[in-house]
Amino acid sequence: MMDFGVTGATLAVFVLTGVLLVCSWRRKMRHSRLPPGPPALPLLGNALQIDKRAPDRSLMKLSRKYGPVFTVWLGPRPAVVLCGFEAVKGALVDRADDFGARGTVPSIRKVTKGYGIASSNGHRSHQLRSFAVTALTDFGKGTKTLEDFIRQEAQCLVEVIRRTEALPFDPTFQLTCATANIMCAVVFGSRFDYTDAKLRTLLDMITENMEVISSPWGQLYDLLPKLLDCLPGPHNRLFENAAKIKSFLREMIQVHKDTHTKGSPQDFIDSFLIKMEEEKDDPDSEFSDENLLLSTFNIFLAGTDTTSSTMRWGLLLFLKYPEIQEKIQREIDEVIGFDRTPTIGDREKMPYTNAAICEVQRYSNIIPLNLPHTVTRDTEFRGFMIPKGMIVIPLLASVLYDSNCWESPESFNPDHFLDEEGRFKENEAFMPFSAGKRMCIGQAVAQMQLFLFLTTLLQNFTLRSREDPHTIDISPLSSGFSTLHRPYQLYCVPRKSA
Ligand code: HEM
Repeated sequence: MMDFGVTGATLAVFVLTGVLLVCSWRRKMRHSRLPPGPPALPLLGNALQIDKRAPDRSLMKLSRKYGPVFTVWLGPRPAVVLCGFEAVKGALVDRADDFGARGTVPSIRKVTKGYGIASSNGHRSHQLRSFAVTALTDFGKGTKTLEDFIRQEAQCLVEVIRRTEALPFDPTFQLTCATANIMCAVVFGSRFDYTDAKLRTLLDMITENMEVISSPWGQLYDLLPKLLDCLPGPHNRLFENAAKIKSFLREMIQVHKDTHTKGSPQDFIDSFLIKMEEEKDDPDSEFSDENLLLSTFNIFLAGTDTTSSTMRWGLLLFLKYPEIQEKIQREIDEVIGFDRTPTIGDREKMPYTNAAICEVQRYSNIIPLNLPHTVTRDTEFRGFMIPKGMIVIPLLASVLYDSNCWESPESFNPDHFLDEEGRFKENEAFMPFSAGKRMCIGQAVAQMQLFLFLTTLLQNFTLRSREDPHTIDISPLSSGFSTLHRPYQLYCVPRKSA
């Protein structure tokens, strides 16, 4: 019996190995002109070679062996990874038409069904994207500009933080309220009080979704969606929360439909409703209820946690490096003083602050893998063939940390953006918003918030840590979809004017 058991098991292992090898070989032949890459297991692909807590670092490591353009298998699906400034720019900027389409992410697809700005392609994406870019540029051209909204929100943030009375607190909630309120102003034309129960619930859901999508569960879902759809687990929270956020947005849209007057758009939803009315007889129009809901969803989610997370990274880095915080405060005192609030016009007179904020964005690397792209047709690139529809990952982490472009990529160093005379210096590899045809549409809005919120905070408070700055751990907690910092607390000590 025993002998038979061992022989049976051995046979099973042989058969299984044989099947795996044949599958792997057949797959290799089918995709023989793909860029090279590590050998992959059927079903799991290269999942075991990619650290779920730091996929960007694993992919950068694989690139050292397989080159700047290589193939990895995300479960059963192959993807081409572009690594380093030259490869990413060569594709997204120099070959923008070929590489400018959005690749499918199963979790996002399940929520959006291909509607909205961020997950659509072709005519739909073109229509919605250019409409949104114009709506964002035009926003606040009336009596109150976007800058006015942000400056006013920055004062609310200062008041809320003043109430902490220099006691230690985790700033996540306050900062997320501030950035969410800017998105509310853009999308709904109004803001919420930080104590509003609806806002709190909404923000809890957004923060939780960002954590789940960046966690191993979120990544596992995108590798094996059909399997995970049948299993219980934290990944299901993603879809429950998304459904609740959508239903909140549906309510807000309905209020706009009931109250909005033609010709005087106050916000993104108003402008979209006007466009819907204008194009109601055009069968090819993309200005539909579903696209309104999902575009609103995209802007709200894409704009809230990204900016808040960057600011949280900023405060953490300023705690870690008090000498950098002091230099920014010196510049604030010289250029702005205490008698007025910061304006966006101050930015060009404040090269050090501007450089430090850009460095926060570079170092924090909050969307390390970018959103996935795909090629619009079979595309020859650097001697390889990438078939139409194949996932392309333009690895932003590898650009923001490219040692050919940055003097000391692993350290937080505002000098990366300063010349010898201390003037602000651009760097082409500064790509936290990506590049090319799908580049972030909220860049200007986000950068205006980062400057106005951070300078207003440092004008009013000095940030202090509970622990010795030397012991503060600034390594990421995890970096799946987003790079998350470790939880921390800080004291905001009022400065002399307060
Ligand atoms: C620090 C803040 C932000 C960062 C780092 C960031 C980064 C990004 C990145 C990397 C992408 C993907 C680009 C690509 O696929 O090549 C993206 C897309 C997008 N972002 Fe942002 N973003 C930020 C803030 C915002 C804000 C404030 C808004 C809204 C006003 C916004 C709206 C969007 C939208 C709608 C897309 C999808 C664009 C498309 O698919 O065509 N983002 N963002």
